Amino acid sequence: MKTVQFVWLAVFGTVLALKVSNAKPSGTVIDLDAYFEEMEANSQERVVGGSDILEDEYVPYQVSMQYLTRKGQQRHFCGGSLISPNRVLTAAHCVNGQNASRISVVAGVRDLNDSTGYRSQVTSYEMNENYQELVTSDIAILKIEPPFELDGKRVDKIDVSGTELVGADQPVVLTGWGSVFHFGNGPFAKYPTRLQRLSYKTLSNDKCKRTMTQLTDTEICALERFGKGACNGDSGGPLVMQNGDSLKQVGVVSYGTAFCASNSPDVYTRVSMFDSWIQERMA
Ligand SMILES: *[C@@H]1O[C@H](CO)[C@@H](O)[C@H](O)[C@H]1NC(C)=O
Ligand SMILES: *[C@@H]1O[C@H](CO)[C@@H](O)[C@H](O)[C@H]1NC(C)=O
Repeated sequence: MKTVQFVWLAVFGTVLALKVSNAKPSGTVIDLDAYFEEMEANSQERVVGGSDILEDEYVPYQVSMQYLTRKGQQRHFCGGSLISPNRVLTAAHCVNGQNASRISVVAGVRDLNDSTGYRSQVTSYEMNENYQELVTSDIAILKIEPPFELDGKRVDKIDVSGTELVGADQPVVLTGWGSVFHFGNGPFAKYPTRLQRLSYKTLSNDKCKRTMTQLTDTEICALERFGKGACNGDSGGPLVMQNGDSLKQVGVVSYGTAFCASNSPDVYTRVSMFDSWIQERMA
């Protein structure tokens, strides 16, 4: 049986695990400059065996959150989803303590180094007031400028409205490029440049709680079915389900044991629990 402490270490890797002892109630603030400088020594290989998004296919609501390093490079560090032309939904732990003016978002790309994407600057962000790291309400909204032009193909918004509770065994799809927070710089520090996709199913909260003992109603779990090799994690990124003819976002990647590990559920912020909080911040 895994303890929560073990989960923490497995999720965040060595760099972040060092910070466990001095984590404040407000959550860990990552020194992204130090992180990327350390990363530069390591290669950033593509994940082998992951499932790439196809050549002619886009995930139009998916955005890459990028950090402007001291050296002036834009580096991907979290995922997010476009919920209106000028609002991005992500995880609170992705922005906690960060300087908004060093964060931008890129839409309209499958490959992270595809320079034909669209970039917009984060002007401010708001984390949920009840956010507690690894416990609850790991959700945040970014305001961006200029707004993205939604073309319905490369760039589009995703529906996040509604309060309906998503139950167990619901087929869901996660997309992402992998992120700082899931892979740390440990053995899993391999980043795909091509957007990856993972299809799996939700798990009931009761079942999930057996492993993820701190789980609350504000969260939803999904369990990987494809074994090792997928490595498709991306903090802040969207978990979506089919809803009639369109897609609906049901989760925001919050924590887990990374997608390289097997048999442990991944924990998402349950979007439907934050319906009014999100709607109030759309205008
Ligand atoms: C935030 O980043 C900007 C741009 O790099 C910088 O000018 C500003 O001083 C930073 N603010 C804080 C509070 O660090
Ligand atoms: C992206 O970067 C990788 C590694 O730097 C390089 O091998 C690849 O050709 C680049 N792809 C594009 C589309 O620029």
